[in-house]
Amino acid sequence: MKIVIGCDHAGYAIKGAVKDHLIAKGHEVVDVGTNSADSCHYPVYAKAACKKILDGECELGILICGTGIGMSIAANKHNGIRAACCSDTFSARLTREHNDANILCFGERVVGAGLALELVDAFINAEYMNSGNHVTRVAMLSEIEKEN
Ligand code: RB5
Repeated sequence: MKIVIGCDHAGYAIKGAVKDHLIAKGHEVVDVGTNSADSCHYPVYAKAACKKILDGECELGILICGTGIGMSIAANKHNGIRAACCSDTFSARLTREHNDANILCFGERVVGAGLALELVDAFINAEYMNSGNHVTRVAMLSEIEKEN
């Protein structure tokens, strides 16, 4: 799978571990930065990652900041992006299966590297159920985007 990854300074340390993990599992990773621990602004990297997904270059994305919240808010401003901020593996799996989330966000200041990799695996390995009420509800999300 081709996966885009991005972070701000507060997610920079864990981004490297996530990237190595994905590559070791055979995925292709597109890294949109940031590339140092110098202070920067998370919307820049959320926007760059969303573009990779909306352009069709990448299938899924991972965004990391201090809490995961700024990244998820920024990502969810984009039509067609469904970003979920998770700190447990159940939610990380279910947001793929039920919400067809295409970006996982989490906070380096919230989760450790061990849990971060498990969140990533739960998200990447899950599949959207693509049937019944899940399809209806995801379509309703798209309608909200059109209305706004
Ligand atoms: C940066 O200090 C921090 O605010 C940012 O990484 C993120 O947690 C925002 O939601």
